Amino acid sequence: MSSTKQEQFSKLAETASACVVCPELADKTAVLSKLNGNLDPRVLFIAEAPGRQGADRTRKPFWGDKSGDNFQILLDSIGLAREEIFITNAVLCSPRKASGANRKPKKSEINNCTEFLKNTIEVINPAIVATLGIVALEALKAIEYHELKLKVDVAKLVDWKGKKLLPLYHPSPQVIASHRKISEQIEDYRVLEKAIKYGKG
Ligand code: URA
Repeated sequence: MSSTKQEQFSKLAETASACVVCPELADKTAVLSKLNGNLDPRVLFIAEAPGRQGADRTRKPFWGDKSGDNFQILLDSIGLAREEIFITNAVLCSPRKASGANRKPKKSEINNCTEFLKNTIEVINPAIVATLGIVALEALKAIEYHELKLKVDVAKLVDWKGKKLLPLYHPSPQVIASHRKISEQIEDYRVLEKAIKYGKG
């Protein structure tokens, strides 16, 4: 008898929590559990990596920090509830500088985590995948190649791996300040709203 989605996910989360492959992340615990969201979501969001004050502390992606507050504004703008979505990251553990501050995940860390991302997408099997930022969009290339560029393809709904893929910007304060204002991101999320309602952008 094939195992249920719940069982497959629990097994995946357990394997991730025991992972110590990345030398600099071995003392961190993967953020992958029931707190990541609904296993039958309207949208699977993929971001970069858990943040120090957010997911690494609260164990819930985009919860407890400024990026989480911004993400909430974007979800609210299209009436999408946390209970309707699942969020994961290209890298499941929180990468830090020696000072303790957040840092970008390394290529090797992203590569090491590809299998978890691939398995998460397969287990959840959503109709819509939305990437938040360049790291997440690039990470998908190792699962099924695409030639999307965030600057060019932002908020374009494309076919990917038998699903709809929507590249979006990351909701961090830094990205909002220097790459994509919150008002522009709210416009981007309208495409997501349409895709959820009508299956197209
Ligand atoms: N930033 C991310 O990229 N992911 C999180 O889960 C939280 C903040």
